[in-house]
Amino acid sequence: MATTRIAVVGDIHHGQDTPTKRGSAALPLLSRFVAEVNAGTVDAVIELGDRISDESPDRDRVLQRQVAEQLARLAVPRHHVSGNHDVACLSLAENATVLDRPTGSRAVVIGRIRCVFWQPDVGLSRARGLHLAPGDLDGLARLLGDDDRPTLLISHVPLSGHAQTGNYYFERNPGHATYAEIASIRAAIAAAPCPVVALAGHVHWSTLTIVDGTPHLTLQSLTETFISGEPAEAAAILEIDGDVLHWSVTGRELLSVTLPWARAKSHWRAPLPPFEAGLN
Ligand SMILES: [Fe+2]
Repeated sequence: MATTRIAVVGDIHHGQDTPTKRGSAALPLLSRFVAEVNAGTVDAVIELGDRISDESPDRDRVLQRQVAEQLARLAVPRHHVSGNHDVACLSLAENATVLDRPTGSRAVVIGRIRCVFWQPDVGLSRARGLHLAPGDLDGLARLLGDDDRPTLLISHVPLSGHAQTGNYYFERNPGHATYAEIASIRAAIAAAPCPVVALAGHVHWSTLTIVDGTPHLTLQSLTETFISGEPAEAAAILEIDGDVLHWSVTGRELLSVTLPWARAKSHWRAPLPPFEAGLN
């Protein structure tokens, strides 16, 4: 069976330097990523959103255009979702126009792999945290429910609800790391007929969390510095070869994992009730 290889990059954060994001390094690092992809043998690129660090509508249009110009040099198909910084001052439609690619929720086949790109509301304010908009959850259930083939589920915000212990941004702000409706999202994934592997950005570190048999991967930001003091220069190759998925993160913070690319849905046994309830 043919192997499908996808290059992944996310949280590019082109723009101003901040205490933990080297925004000024984003375009050179992105240019190198594009050159490496074009010299390699991947079927497509997935970009996970937060292409810029937002400043103002006019400035964000310039920043987005500069990122889009780099991405347009890719010699392979590219697929995008948008993140909270992309929509802070610009609409999803404006992002799609600048990218010249869709950013809405959709199902796409890359190589031999069914991919669902989920674009719920990613609007984020410090006071409000992350919340789904009406229709977002139904849209996810519909896209996942359409098909029983194994599916790669891509979103900007992670959908595992994984611990943020030690995360510079989110240890003390867990409501900004995932959606308030995370339990309903996980239930929708569990109810879908397809086995799912989920892939996201947003939290600026690379993790693997497995919940109820569903692996959730997150990819470190291209320009994040909070772990090593230097830009992580993170990108990844996701390779699916028969019944096996290989995930390999390159840059300063390496992570490599091998997972089953399961053909059939499985569930973990339901957790016990609280021990205080008297059960053993
Ligand atoms: Fe980000």
